[in-house]
Amino acid sequence: MIELFQGSSPETLDLLHRRRSTSAKAMGEPGPDAGQLRQILQAASRVPDHGKLFPWRFLVIEGDARAKLGEVLEEALVVRNAGVGESLKRFERNRFLRAPVIVTVISSLKTEKPIPEWEQRLSAGAVCQTVLVAAAAAGFGANWLTEWCAYDELVTEKLGLAEGEKIAGFIYIGTGTAPLEERPRPVLDEIVEHWTGSN
Ligand SMILES: Cc1cc2nc3c(=O)[nH]c(=O)nc-3n(C[C@H](O)[C@H](O)[C@H](O)COP(=O)(O)O)c2cc1C
Repeated sequence: MIELFQGSSPETLDLLHRRRSTSAKAMGEPGPDAGQLRQILQAASRVPDHGKLFPWRFLVIEGDARAKLGEVLEEALVVRNAGVGESLKRFERNRFLRAPVIVTVISSLKTEKPIPEWEQRLSAGAVCQTVLVAAAAAGFGANWLTEWCAYDELVTEKLGLAEGEKIAGFIYIGTGTAPLEERPRPVLDEIVEHWTGSN
């Protein structure tokens, strides 16, 4: 049966107008449980995707894996900066302990159809944003970060990324521990024009 998506959802619109990121620096327990996380990822895997390629995948980092990834970060840091001090090393060891659950969104370039890379990468961005929105709808705070580790070859190798894969984001998900600060938002009238065909 074909189900048509019709009907308004003022609650969704309200959420989209209010949603903002919860800084990973101010995030604590609880994070989503297995069922809630599944719902969030289910929602995020429904993003538009030209060619039905599913050019993305998820790598969930939670529990002890967060500290193990911290050790990888420390190793990568030391490889790049031999004389780095203990406090920076500690910071890297603890980086992924900032939230109970981190969803790594991996953009995976597919080559079986001639869909431009740009469009496949955009689809991965849509996945990240949908994780943020779905996490908010499920009652959690979330933060889309890349930081240096998303681009470090040693880190991406340990995470098992293949040729053509990039990290679109580490989405930290948890519960905010401090009030959310608003940040400047664009003035809509400065970024919206209507093309009339007269020029
Ligand atoms: C692709 C991408 C990567 C980002 N990486 C970082 C980052 O590494 N460090 C950072 O402080 N913010 C980063 N941000 C910005 C945060 O997500 C930021 O908290 C967010 O833009 C706040 O906006 P919001 O409240 O509208 O969600 C990134 C954003 C995007 C879209």
